[in-house]
Amino acid sequence: MAVLLDADTIQARVKELAREIEDGYPEAEEILLVCVLKGGFVFMADLARAMGTRVSMDFIAVSSYGSGTKSSGEVRFQKDLDVSLENRNVVVIEDIVDTGLTLKYLQEILRSRAPRSLKTACLLSKPSRRQVDVAVDYVGFTIEDRFVVGYGLDYAEKYRNLPYIAVLHE
Ligand code: IMP
Ligand code: MG
Repeated sequence: MAVLLDADTIQARVKELAREIEDGYPEAEEILLVCVLKGGFVFMADLARAMGTRVSMDFIAVSSYGSGTKSSGEVRFQKDLDVSLENRNVVVIEDIVDTGLTLKYLQEILRSRAPRSLKTACLLSKPSRRQVDVAVDYVGFTIEDRFVVGYGLDYAEKYRNLPYIAVLHE
């Protein structure tokens, strides 16, 4: 496996993102990070630890309908949030935006719950794969159309624990 982004590069970028996200809200306002499981858990853990005490967290698990690696854009909630989003500043934390279908659908559902604001932070983005126009407010790294693993991202549930991001089969 070829390393695409090493651990130091990721950590430095995550700290920058944490600062950018915090700077996007008035000082007194709380921020709710909503982690999209499973892929987002490593990213959120590092991001949250680089942020101050006005941050709280919740988790959501979704699976897309459709077969194999194809995304249909319709998502089913495996685990919904525990908290209400009403009048809160919400930041969705995703591992990667590929076609954008999953995120688009998820944003629509979350927006219907009347948050004060709704933003999205993705560690990785593959813009060449995009099928729908979806708003991503914070992007860690833009990458080519390669299948990557590590730092939360899996292949058949493996490699999520790698501290770096690697290209599979290279
Ligand atoms: P999409 O944007 O709806 O196509 O789906 C994005 C989801 O597909 C991500 O949250 C990942 O779970 C998965 N995915 C897309 N590209 C990759 C990759 O390169 N490695 C691992 N998972 C990926
Ligand atoms: Mg995902």
